[in-house]
Amino acid sequence: MTVIPGSPKSRLDPDPMPRRDWLGLASLWSAASALLFGLVGSMRLPKAAVVAAPSKTFKVTLPDSLAAGEAFVPAGRAVAVYRDAEGIHAISTICTHLGCVVKSNAEGFECPCHGSRFDATGGVVKGPAPRALAWLQVKVSGSEIQVDEGKAVPSGTKVKNA
Ligand code: FES
Repeated sequence: MTVIPGSPKSRLDPDPMPRRDWLGLASLWSAASALLFGLVGSMRLPKAAVVAAPSKTFKVTLPDSLAAGEAFVPAGRAVAVYRDAEGIHAISTICTHLGCVVKSNAEGFECPCHGSRFDATGGVVKGPAPRALAWLQVKVSGSEIQVDEGKAVPSGTKVKNA
C-alpha cells in the first residue's frame, strides 16, 4: 500500500509498534510458552515404578472339604492355614534360612532352595534353616477368618472357630 505524504492516516495503517512494547510482548509470549511447555512436559513425566504392596492382613475362606491338619494356601500368599478340632492357625511359608517359599507336604514343609525340612508345626527337622517357621496372627469373627502376615504369635497359638 502506498502512502501519500500529507494524507490522513488510515485506521487500518497502525503506527509501528514502539520497541519497548514489542519487547514487552515478546517476553510475555516467551513466559507463556515456557509455562505451557513446562506443563505439557510435566504431564509426560514417567510414572513412579513403585507397586503398592498388598496388605499384610487378608481374609481367608477355608473350603468345607479341608481336612483337619491339611494345609490351605491362599492364592498369592506365603501362608498355610489349618483348621482342626483345637481351632484355626496359620504358619508362614517363608523359609527362615534365606526366604524361599516352602512347600507343604504330608510331613510338614520342605524348602526347595536348600532342602530345609520342617514338621507340621513349623519346627526345624533338617537345616540349614536356623529357626522354626513363624506362626501368624489369626482372628476369627463369625465365618470370617483374617490372617495377618505381619504379626507373629507364639508357636501353638490356635483360635477357636466361633
Ligand atoms: S532358603 Fe530354605 S533352606 Fe535355604
